[in-house]
Amino acid sequence: AAVPVENLDLAGRRVVVSAGGTREAIDPVRFIGNRSSGRQGVALAQAAAARGAEVTLVAANLAADVTDQVRTGPQACAVVQVESTAELRDAVRAAGAEADVVVMAAAVADFRPAATPDAKIKKVPGQGPAPIELVENPDILAELAHERLRAGQVVVGFAAETGDATGSVLEHGRAKARRKGADLIAVNAVGSGRGFGTESNEVTILDGAGDVVGLASGTKREVADALWDAVTKLLP
Ligand code: CTP
Ligand code: CA
Repeated sequence: AAVPVENLDLAGRRVVVSAGGTREAIDPVRFIGNRSSGRQGVALAQAAAARGAEVTLVAANLAADVTDQVRTGPQACAVVQVESTAELRDAVRAAGAEADVVVMAAAVADFRPAATPDAKIKKVPGQGPAPIELVENPDILAELAHERLRAGQVVVGFAAETGDATGSVLEHGRAKARRKGADLIAVNAVGSGRGFGTESNEVTILDGAGDVVGLASGTKREVADALWDAVTKLLP
């Protein structure tokens, strides 16, 4: 049988990939979170490592089996564990200062509680819950795209969308691509068994103007490789 030729087109490149979903503390025992397993982000990190990149994986609350996949994977990635959006932002920006590519595959909480008490919030029997005031989190991807921590850095985001009355998955993705200012946005349809937690994925890759530059479907690893193919075309 033919021995597959190794593709080392990311050799000498430093890449940062965020994966998983951030959690925002309500009090010491409770949080607001999301269903992201981190599977697509970890597939991106491992695909980049296999192609020769030096990879930092910023991991936010990965599912247990995905954490195992990172530990037992064939290629080494530097892993920084984070929980909240503030921690993820700091870790991505620290590693991103030296990176050729930053990929924001993490599902970032859009809002966080305005205050986090040091003690557990107690219920008062017979009285309803106190409302939790939320404030908006910084948009890490938009910041990275507009600031460019390093000259020539390629910034990549994801857009998990559902179609609704105001537009299709692709229309929402196109609007997001234009708004964020990233070089590439991978749009995927979520909901009803698609996207979150599943083994396979289907994405449309858009450039910053919202034009389609690639399509990928298959395993999350195959989608990851298609995205890296698009990234390598943008690298100097
Ligand atoms: N993202 C980010 N910081 C945030 C929110 C999102 O960096 N505070 C990044 C995600 O990692 C992803 C991209 O932005 O790469 C799109 O995330 P998404 O949640 O789809 O977009 P939002 O701008 O938050 O829009 P909405 O949730 O309203 O669809
Ligand atoms: Ca969001």
